[in-house]
Amino acid sequence: MVQIKKPKHIYVCQNCGAQSPKWLGRCNECGEWNSLIEETALPLPKRTNLVLGAEKPLPLSQIKQPKNIRTPTGLLEFDRLLGGGIVKGSVILLGGDPGIGKSTILLQVCSKLALNGLKVLYVSAEESIFQTKMRAERLKTNSDNLLLVSETNLNTIIAYINEFASHSALAERGSPEAAGGPDLVVIDSIQMIYKSELPGAPGTLTQLRECATELVYLAKRQGVSLCLIGHVTKEGAIAGPKSLEHIVDTVLYFEGDRFQSFRILRAVKNRFGSTNEIAIFEMQESGLTEVANPSGLFISQREEETPGSVVVPTIIGTRTLLVEIQALTARSYYATPARRVSGVDFNRTMMILAVLERRINLASGGQDVFVNAVGGVQVDEPAADLGIALAIASSMKNKPLPKKIICVGEVGLSGEVRAVNQINNRIKEAQRMGFKQIILPKQNNDVNLTDTKGITISKVSSLYETLDIINILGKQ
Ligand code: TYD
Ligand code: MG
Repeated sequence: MVQIKKPKHIYVCQNCGAQSPKWLGRCNECGEWNSLIEETALPLPKRTNLVLGAEKPLPLSQIKQPKNIRTPTGLLEFDRLLGGGIVKGSVILLGGDPGIGKSTILLQVCSKLALNGLKVLYVSAEESIFQTKMRAERLKTNSDNLLLVSETNLNTIIAYINEFASHSALAERGSPEAAGGPDLVVIDSIQMIYKSELPGAPGTLTQLRECATELVYLAKRQGVSLCLIGHVTKEGAIAGPKSLEHIVDTVLYFEGDRFQSFRILRAVKNRFGSTNEIAIFEMQESGLTEVANPSGLFISQREEETPGSVVVPTIIGTRTLLVEIQALTARSYYATPARRVSGVDFNRTMMILAVLERRINLASGGQDVFVNAVGGVQVDEPAADLGIALAIASSMKNKPLPKKIICVGEVGLSGEVRAVNQINNRIKEAQRMGFKQIILPKQNNDVNLTDTKGITISKVSSLYETLDIINILGKQ
């Protein structure tokens, strides 16, 4: 008698991948609520014989780097973010809120590459090819090298990629690298792709992980560069698994407000370039355009000097940006006063409040404190400490700072102002934007004084000294 095996059901946490034989309201591993979904257990893989692969291990000195390993896309901000272009065979994961511009930017990248003669395959799993065509018309782009397909089945997509090999750009030139297939494949989005052999709906953790892993193997094997679009959960992580971030080479996130026109693209992981780099775009009628002068974006358009507002020169990746820090302190009507920050580090701000209370005698107990970096940018570096401290002190004393003053420095627990890196870049950017005075740490011995025309440099060694210079502590 043939025995039919009943499929075994398990419950998989969609947040961390933990498995449980029964449903639970809360995952035992990661503590997430309501994250377990029923899936069919995969059969255990059969043991295979150990055989040598086609490629043997090679000494490092004998490995020859192929030429043109990076392909610049021509979208300058995007290239800078990646460290100079898309690396052949690399996998990029692009995340962001719905409607923020993920499909738009990748279609722009694809069409730029296609116009440069590279072969690109855009797999649109969410929209029909007509909708993508409409978007391309908006972007005023057209190319025979850009192929579109609307498909969600992984096996079909892989077949398309393999079929490409025979008529790729390289094959036409008779290159031996022709097996590579298309130069770039975009999957929009990975959450919509499914593998028919696997149980579960598209987007479940098993599907997501298996489909992404298979595509990553294919990219590495054939030297095809791959861009995966991933959706973001309301907490801001790429939906479902952190594991997707581990298997790809580069993770880019769209930040910024969907309701504002400019968009920040941040590299949170980059195997071939620097992390913490950002690219700034503006969403216009014909797609995302690069912003020529981003420093102006993060300074509020105010006419008068207002208390609680300070501009700091901050380094984000390879770029220096001027960002306005705003603070507001107001009498609290609650037993526990509110402390809210946005765009700056919460713990550092709390430390600065304590330093202000103990070293300067500016106590904030009984007051609500709000601190905000203008324009939705994230300023995490300690060099912004002095700016945060001055903004809070200025709001508490209700005394504005002169408009053309800018300040930078790390604040220590005893109220001292410590040296910061790349001080000359910061001075230069402040000069360029027309600031007349910069307050910086005395400990910075590397200031290049020949370069400081038009801007007065005030060196300070403590927070107290700084407040004294700008006359915030005096009588109102
Ligand atoms: P989209 O790329 O579809 O977002 P995602 O793929 O991240 O969900 O972005 C669409 C938004 O951008 C939509 O609100 C319309 C707007 N947009 C423009 O303003 N100009 C344009 O040229 C395009 C193509 C879109
Ligand atoms: Mg989209």
